[in-house]
Amino acid sequence: VLSRLSVYRKGSTYVINIGFTSEDPVKAASLANAFAENYLLEQLDAKFDATSRANSWLNDRLTVLRAEVRSAENAVEVYRGQSGLLSAQGSSLTEQQISDLNAQLIIQTADYNETVARLESVKAKVARGDAADTIGEVLASAVIQTLRAQESTVAGKRAELSSRYGPRHPEVLKVEREAADVQAQIQQEIKRIVSNLESEVGIAQQKVRSIESGLNRLRGELSSNNRSLVRLRELERDAEASRSLYESFLERFKENDDQETITDADARIISKAVIPSTQSSPNTLLNILLGLALGVAAGLGMVVLAEMLDNGLSTGADVEREIGVPFIASVPKLGDGWVNVVRNLMGKTQMPGDFIAENPLSMFAESFRTLRSTILLSDSDKKPKVVTISSALPGEGKTTIVRSLGRLSAMSGSKTVIVDCDLRLRQLSKLSEVAPKAGLIKYLKGDAALRDLIVKDKKSECDYILNSENEYTNRDLFGTPEFGKLLTALRRKYDLVILDTAPILLVTETREIARQSDAVVIASRWRKTKADAVTTATNILQSVNANIIGLVLTQVNMRTRRKYGIGDYSYYSRQYGKYYASPIKETVG
Ligand SMILES: Nc1ncnc2c1ncn2[C@@H]1O[C@H](COP(=O)(O)OP(=O)(O)OP(=O)(O)O)[C@@H](O)[C@H]1O
Ligand SMILES: [Mg+2]
Repeated sequence: VLSRLSVYRKGSTYVINIGFTSEDPVKAASLANAFAENYLLEQLDAKFDATSRANSWLNDRLTVLRAEVRSAENAVEVYRGQSGLLSAQGSSLTEQQISDLNAQLIIQTADYNETVARLESVKAKVARGDAADTIGEVLASAVIQTLRAQESTVAGKRAELSSRYGPRHPEVLKVEREAADVQAQIQQEIKRIVSNLESEVGIAQQKVRSIESGLNRLRGELSSNNRSLVRLRELERDAEASRSLYESFLERFKENDDQETITDADARIISKAVIPSTQSSPNTLLNILLGLALGVAAGLGMVVLAEMLDNGLSTGADVEREIGVPFIASVPKLGDGWVNVVRNLMGKTQMPGDFIAENPLSMFAESFRTLRSTILLSDSDKKPKVVTISSALPGEGKTTIVRSLGRLSAMSGSKTVIVDCDLRLRQLSKLSEVAPKAGLIKYLKGDAALRDLIVKDKKSECDYILNSENEYTNRDLFGTPEFGKLLTALRRKYDLVILDTAPILLVTETREIARQSDAVVIASRWRKTKADAVTTATNILQSVNANIIGLVLTQVNMRTRRKYGIGDYSYYSRQYGKYYASPIKETVG
């Protein structure tokens, strides 16, 4: 199943494509959707797991932290109790006591100072002997006031008695004593008041001292308290740190706890897979196009390969470019089509040479008309009469050309003779249906007359000079004067003398024949004979000063050729096909 699943990220987006390939479109869509949903579920599960794991960890941590906070805060309280640093409104007890005592000290000191001042002033007045009335303390005393009242009563009595009695009168003396007694009592009272003040000063002083000593003690206490305070603050900080850590964990825990209940997947489904309406594979159109492209490529490859392997001559342009001789004509290839196969089976073998007699208007015949007129026009001064048909290699169609050209020429009204100069194969002789009285060899040896040589063609006015079957020689007969004489005789008697020869590259005699001819035509098999071979043959002919008038491509498949041969008349053969009336199909290549 997984191999049919395709998951890929779309470009650089965060979109993930999930596809599933199946023969059943409904199944494909539902499976793709199922994969997407499962993916989301799994993501949720994973997230849920992660948060609950985090929560349990946080929970553990919280328990530990809570214990830590408790013990830290406990330590603070215990220490505070031990060190007496009980806090009240931000200040310690000692500090408060000190401030209280300070306030008392101020009051008591003022009180003391005032008492001392009063004592001093009273003492000073008493020492100066000032009237007791000027001393406020004395005036305020009830005892003094009573005594002052007695004093004035006694003074009144004394004044009354002194006016009546003499100073020695007992009554006067008695009053005098009373007055002195009152006065003594007043002095006594003043003394008492002073000593009273003195004791008051003493008490005030005592109070001040006690406050001061209290303060001193408290100050000592405070300095030791401050040392304890440092420790206390330390403990408090510890407790504070533990608490804030605990609180932040607690916060986190609460958040997580919330998350655990409302976890969301990171991914969501943008669009569900729909049931596809067309198949994804095989892509018929693509396959057809691919096949087409491959086919075309292979075809092109084959063509290129064929072109590379084929270094024969293909067009007239090839001939002129590669061989450097004029191109004359293309002789169509005859009959390897099914029509001829049937004819062959029926025993009616038709030789290409016979074709022209039966189909004088064919394209095949036309190529020989071209050849003929090229030969005739090749020299404007004197018409070439002796024409050698040669080729570099065997089987290039020389004999076929000779027979066809001979017949055509004869049919065109020229007196024509064709001579079988191929002493080895003697094809022309073999093809002929009539035997001569004497063969060419016999004549060249000087053993026969010209008129014994000549035989008439059955199908045309063309004359033949042939070889007899059983004659053979190793002598070079073409270098003899007899051959020259033969040509002269033939020139006189005929308009056109066509010589069939052996291949140049194989048989040396051909050079001699070519040398003595007026014109030489090279036959070369279309796309078969290598250009190198043709060039070599051409060079040989040129070295004996043969007059090469051009080259004929033979056995040309016109159908194929049409596609190549731009520049040849044959290229137009399709358009002008109606000009070539032919009872049988000539090119069925
Ligand atoms: N235009 C043509 N169409 C079809 N077949 C042809 C054509 N020309 C020649 N042939 C065939 O090719 C073969 C060789 O041809 P031909 O004998 O004319 O060549 P050649 O050059 O005379 O050969 P050789 O060097 O052996 O004498 C023959 O079987 C002939 O029938
Ligand atoms: Mg031949």
